[in-house]
This record gives sequence, structure tokens and C-alpha cells, in this order.
Amino acid sequence: MNLSFENYIIRNFNDDDVDSLFKYANNINVSQYLRDSFPYPYSKQNALEWIYFIGQNNTNLAFAIADEHELIGGIGAMPNNDVHRLNAEIGFWLGEPFWNKGIMTKAVKVFCNYLFNSYNYNKLCANVFEGNEASKKVLLNTGFILEGTLRKNIFKNNKFLDQYIYGLLKEDFKR
Ligand SMILES: CC(C)(COP(=O)(O)OP(=O)(O)OC[C@H]1O[C@@H](n2cnc3c(N)ncnc32)[C@H](O)[C@@H]1OP(=O)(O)O)[C@@H](O)C(=O)NCCC(=O)NCCS
Repeated sequence: MNLSFENYIIRNFNDDDVDSLFKYANNINVSQYLRDSFPYPYSKQNALEWIYFIGQNNTNLAFAIADEHELIGGIGAMPNNDVHRLNAEIGFWLGEPFWNKGIMTKAVKVFCNYLFNSYNYNKLCANVFEGNEASKKVLLNTGFILEGTLRKNIFKNNKFLDQYIYGLLKEDFKR
């Protein structure tokens, strides 16, 4: 899979991504708003294992975001099942040196377009942790709306946090 936007690309992970993944993922400012499966500290071994795991079985639809030099972040969608099978949850992160340049807003728009058109999803959602204002903004920029708040539903770094659920219907998505 290759999705281009400006000077960036959303593509499959490859073995050459290990060093950049380790460099940018090993940052508490990134991991504090992600599930514990994205650990901190994030070791080179974690990077190696992730790329191996995704190479074996990419049911999570996980992809790298890269510039012309290297991997700078990641984006993915977790398919749901049963009555939720036409929904998927998206997740994303970007290396801190690249924040606040509009990169993720563009990446999420391109990725949602891909998911709606290539996988027949009717709805995409995202779960945002309390305090993550940049992520809320990216989702609002893409057309997601806040559909609900789960109070103190997250236990992260020894704190309970509210969880905000954002949703985007295919019929409301404008590229
Ligand atoms: C969330 C994240 C991906 C955003 O990426 P990005 O490329 O910097 O996002 P963009 O530049 O497209 O947009 C960020 C928006 O948030 C705003 N913003 C950034 N920090 C903010 C803050 N502390 N308070 C309010 N708004 C903030 C920016 O001004 C920008 O708004 P704009 O679109 O009106 O200009 C990045 O911060 C990140 O990787 N965070 C850690 C991991 C994470 O939270 N992932 C998402 C989990 S749901």
C-alpha cells in the first residue's frame, strides 16, 4: 500500500525502519496518549518485534508514515467484528520533531479516504485520552465529531483519565 500526500507517504513498514521507529517512538510525549502496547521506554527490540509482527500478519492495517528520508510516524486501523464489522478504530502517532506542521491532519484525511473506499467501512472511530488536545484537533479537522465521553475509563501512567470517542460516518466524509 502506498498513499502519498505532499512530500510524505503512508506505506508498509520495512526492515530499514527499525532505527527511525526506535528514535521517534521512544518518547514519553508520544506514548503517554497511546495504549500500553506502545511501551515507554520503547527499545530497539520493541521496534524489531513490531516490524516482524506486522510483516507476518497485518490484520491491524498498520502502516508507516515517512518523509523522503525515513519513517516519521505510524497510522493504523483496527477492524471490529460481529455487528461492528463495518466499523474500524483508527490510531496514529508522529515523531515529536514533526508536530504542528499539519502532517497528521493530512495523513488522517488520506487514510480515512483509503479505508472508506478500499474496505467498505461505514464508520471510523478514534479514542482520545484526556489532555490530548492535538489529537482532538486532528480528528475535528478531518470531520470526526465527539460522540461520547467515558469517564475515568483509562488507567495510564498511574492516573485515571477520561476517554473521548470520536466518530466519522462515510456519508459525512469530505476529502
Ligand atoms: C496527535 C499528533 C499525531 C498530532 O500530529 P500533528 O501532525 O502535530 O497534527 P497537526 O499539525 O495536523 O494538527 C495539530 C493541531 O492541534 C493543535 N494543537 C497542538 N497542540 C495543542 C495543544 N496543546 N492544545 C490545543 N491545540 C493543540 C495545533 O495547533 C493544530 O491545530 P490546527 O489544525 O488548528 O492548526 C501528535 O501530536 C502525536 O503524535 N501525539 C502523540 C501520540 C498521539 O496522541 N496519538 C493520537 C492518539 S488518539
